Amino acid sequence: MTRDDAALRALQRIPYGLYVIGSLHEGVPVTMIGNWVTQVSFHPLCIALALEQDSRMRMFVHASGVFSLNILPSGGTEIAKKYLKGPAAEGGAIGGRGFAAASNGAPFLRDASAAIACKLLHEVEAGDHVVVFGEVVDAVVSSDDEGVLTLRETGWHYSK
Ligand SMILES: Cc1cc2nc3c(=O)[nH]c(=O)nc-3n(C[C@H](O)[C@H](O)[C@H](O)COP(=O)(O)O)c2cc1C
Repeated sequence: MTRDDAALRALQRIPYGLYVIGSLHEGVPVTMIGNWVTQVSFHPLCIALALEQDSRMRMFVHASGVFSLNILPSGGTEIAKKYLKGPAAEGGAIGGRGFAAASNGAPFLRDASAAIACKLLHEVEAGDHVVVFGEVVDAVVSSDDEGVLTLRETGWHYSK
Protein backbone atom coordinates (compact mmCIF):
# COMPACT_ATOMS: atom_id res chain seq x y z
CA MET A 1 0.00 0.00 0.00
CA THR A 2 1.40 3.43 -0.93
CA ARG A 3 1.59 6.16 1.68
CA ASP A 4 -1.24 8.03 -0.06
CA ASP A 5 -3.47 4.92 -0.09
CA ALA A 6 -2.78 4.38 3.61
CA ALA A 7 -3.49 8.04 4.36
CA LEU A 8 -6.83 7.91 2.52
CA ARG A 9 -7.85 4.69 4.26
CA ALA A 10 -6.85 6.11 7.65
CA LEU A 11 -8.72 9.36 6.99
CA GLN A 12 -11.86 7.41 6.05
CA ARG A 13 -11.88 6.04 9.60
CA ILE A 14 -12.49 9.46 11.12
CA PRO A 15 -16.13 9.31 12.26
CA TYR A 16 -18.48 11.93 10.83
CA GLY A 17 -22.09 12.92 10.94
CA LEU A 18 -23.97 13.37 7.68
CA TYR A 19 -25.55 16.81 7.63
CA VAL A 20 -27.57 19.12 5.46
CA ILE A 21 -25.85 22.47 5.15
CA GLY A 22 -28.08 25.44 4.37
CA SER A 23 -27.48 28.98 3.14
CA LEU A 24 -29.10 31.66 0.98
CA HIS A 25 -28.75 32.38 -2.72
CA GLU A 26 -30.10 35.85 -3.47
CA GLY A 27 -32.43 35.42 -0.50
CA VAL A 28 -33.61 31.93 -1.51
CA PRO A 29 -32.82 29.08 0.94
CA VAL A 30 -30.44 26.46 -0.54
CA THR A 31 -29.00 23.17 0.74
CA MET A 32 -26.09 20.75 0.34
CA ILE A 33 -25.11 17.39 1.85
CA GLY A 34 -21.87 17.64 3.85
CA ASN A 35 -19.85 15.75 6.44
CA TRP A 36 -16.67 17.76 7.10
CA VAL A 37 -18.03 19.69 10.09
CA THR A 38 -16.77 20.41 13.62
CA GLN A 39 -17.24 22.73 16.62
CA VAL A 40 -14.16 24.94 17.07
CA SER A 41 -14.96 27.31 20.01
CA PHE A 42 -17.08 27.56 23.19
CA HIS A 43 -16.82 31.35 23.64
CA PRO A 44 -18.21 32.38 21.31
CA LEU A 45 -19.85 29.19 20.04
CA CYS A 46 -18.31 28.56 16.63
CA ILE A 47 -18.29 25.77 14.08
CA ALA A 48 -16.28 25.14 10.91
CA LEU A 49 -17.25 23.45 7.63
CA ALA A 50 -15.04 22.50 4.70
CA LEU A 51 -16.67 23.47 1.40
CA GLU A 52 -15.40 22.58 -2.07
CA GLN A 53 -13.63 25.60 -3.60
CA ASP A 54 -15.71 25.50 -6.76
CA SER A 55 -19.04 24.44 -5.24
CA ARG A 56 -22.17 26.50 -5.38
CA MET A 57 -22.50 26.32 -1.58
CA ARG A 58 -19.09 27.92 -1.16
CA MET A 59 -20.27 30.85 -3.32
CA PHE A 60 -23.61 31.08 -1.52
CA VAL A 61 -21.98 31.22 1.94
CA HIS A 62 -19.37 33.74 0.74
CA ALA A 63 -22.01 35.99 -0.82
CA SER A 64 -24.70 35.77 1.89
CA GLY A 65 -22.49 35.52 5.00
CA VAL A 66 -24.85 32.98 6.56
CA PHE A 67 -25.15 29.22 6.83
CA SER A 68 -27.00 26.57 8.79
CA LEU A 69 -26.15 23.08 9.96
CA ASN A 70 -29.06 20.63 10.02
CA ILE A 71 -28.51 17.49 12.10
CA LEU A 72 -30.57 14.52 10.92
CA PRO A 73 -31.73 11.69 13.18
CA SER A 74 -30.13 8.26 13.10
CA GLY A 75 -32.03 6.12 10.59
CA GLY A 76 -32.47 9.13 8.32
CA THR A 77 -30.66 7.90 5.21
CA GLU A 78 -33.84 8.02 3.12
CA ILE A 79 -34.46 11.56 4.33
CA ALA A 80 -30.86 12.55 3.50
CA LYS A 81 -31.38 11.28 -0.07
CA LYS A 82 -33.93 14.04 -0.59
CA TYR A 83 -31.08 16.57 -0.24
CA LEU A 84 -28.41 14.79 -2.31
CA LYS A 85 -28.94 16.99 -5.36
CA GLY A 86 -28.72 20.17 -3.28
CA PRO A 87 -32.31 21.37 -3.68
CA ALA A 88 -33.26 25.03 -3.22
CA ALA A 89 -36.51 26.33 -1.76
CA GLU A 90 -39.45 26.15 -4.15
CA GLY A 91 -43.10 26.65 -3.34
CA GLY A 92 -42.42 26.91 0.38
CA ALA A 93 -40.49 23.61 0.55
CA ILE A 94 -36.95 22.31 -0.06
CA GLY A 95 -36.87 19.06 -2.03
CA GLY A 96 -40.55 18.76 -1.18
CA ARG A 97 -39.77 18.91 2.58
CA GLY A 98 -40.77 21.60 5.04
CA PHE A 99 -38.45 24.17 6.52
CA ALA A 100 -38.44 27.36 8.59
CA ALA A 101 -36.13 30.36 8.41
CA ALA A 102 -33.59 30.84 11.21
CA SER A 103 -33.14 34.37 12.57
CA ASN A 104 -30.56 35.03 9.83
CA GLY A 105 -32.73 33.50 7.08
CA ALA A 106 -30.75 30.27 6.66
CA PRO A 107 -33.00 27.19 6.44
CA PHE A 108 -33.85 25.04 9.45
CA LEU A 109 -35.25 21.80 8.03
CA ARG A 110 -38.31 20.15 9.56
CA ASP A 111 -36.43 16.87 9.00
CA ALA A 112 -33.64 17.96 11.38
CA SER A 113 -33.64 16.83 15.02
CA ALA A 114 -31.53 19.90 15.80
CA ALA A 115 -30.16 22.79 13.76
CA ILE A 116 -27.70 25.66 14.16
CA ALA A 117 -27.52 28.93 12.25
CA CYS A 118 -24.27 30.87 11.91
CA LYS A 119 -22.91 34.15 10.65
CA LEU A 120 -19.76 33.80 8.59
CA LEU A 121 -16.62 34.83 10.50
CA HIS A 122 -13.67 33.65 8.40
CA GLU A 123 -12.89 31.76 5.20
CA VAL A 124 -9.57 29.92 5.04
CA GLU A 125 -8.37 28.23 1.86
CA ALA A 126 -7.28 24.64 2.46
CA GLY A 127 -6.25 22.92 -0.79
CA ASP A 128 -9.34 22.11 -2.84
CA HIS A 129 -11.67 23.21 -0.02
CA VAL A 130 -12.37 26.42 1.85
CA VAL A 131 -12.90 26.14 5.60
CA VAL A 132 -15.66 28.50 6.65
CA PHE A 133 -15.88 29.47 10.31
CA GLY A 134 -19.22 30.64 11.67
CA GLU A 135 -20.45 32.03 14.97
CA VAL A 136 -23.68 30.47 16.20
CA VAL A 137 -26.53 33.02 16.13
CA ASP A 138 -29.57 30.74 16.37
CA ALA A 139 -30.38 27.12 17.18
CA VAL A 140 -33.31 24.78 17.59
CA VAL A 141 -33.65 21.31 19.15
CA SER A 142 -36.83 19.64 17.93
CA SER A 143 -36.29 16.11 19.27
CA ASP A 144 -34.92 14.67 22.52
CA ASP A 145 -33.58 11.69 20.57
CA GLU A 146 -29.80 12.24 20.50
CA GLY A 147 -29.18 9.60 17.83
CA VAL A 148 -27.52 11.34 14.89
CA LEU A 149 -27.24 10.19 11.27
CA THR A 150 -23.61 9.23 10.62
CA LEU A 151 -21.70 8.93 7.36
CA ARG A 152 -20.95 5.27 8.18
CA GLU A 153 -24.63 4.52 8.72
CA THR A 154 -25.53 5.84 5.26
CA GLY A 155 -22.89 3.64 3.60
CA TRP A 156 -21.95 6.70 1.52
CA HIS A 157 -18.44 8.07 0.99
CA TYR A 158 -17.22 11.57 0.35
CA SER A 159 -14.62 11.14 -2.37
CA LYS A 160 -13.50 12.83 -5.54
C1 LIG B 1 -21.53 11.68 1.56
C2 LIG B 1 -21.18 13.04 1.02
C3 LIG B 1 -20.49 13.94 1.80
C4 LIG B 1 -20.14 15.21 1.31
N1 LIG B 1 -19.45 16.08 2.11
C5 LIG B 1 -19.11 17.30 1.61
C6 LIG B 1 -18.41 18.24 2.41
O1 LIG B 1 -18.11 18.01 3.60
N2 LIG B 1 -18.09 19.44 1.85
C7 LIG B 1 -18.43 19.75 0.55
O2 LIG B 1 -18.11 20.85 0.08
N3 LIG B 1 -19.09 18.88 -0.23
C8 LIG B 1 -19.45 17.68 0.28
N4 LIG B 1 -20.12 16.80 -0.52
C9 LIG B 1 -20.42 17.18 -1.90
C10 LIG B 1 -21.60 18.17 -1.93
O3 LIG B 1 -22.79 17.54 -1.44
C11 LIG B 1 -21.85 18.70 -3.37
O4 LIG B 1 -22.19 17.65 -4.22
C12 LIG B 1 -20.64 19.40 -3.92
O5 LIG B 1 -20.24 20.42 -3.04
C13 LIG B 1 -20.87 20.04 -5.30
O6 LIG B 1 -21.98 20.84 -5.23
P1 LIG B 1 -22.49 21.75 -6.47
O7 LIG B 1 -22.64 20.82 -7.63
O8 LIG B 1 -23.80 22.27 -5.98
O9 LIG B 1 -21.51 22.82 -6.70
C14 LIG B 1 -20.49 15.55 -0.01
C15 LIG B 1 -21.21 14.64 -0.79
C16 LIG B 1 -21.57 13.41 -0.29
C17 LIG B 1 -22.35 12.47 -1.16
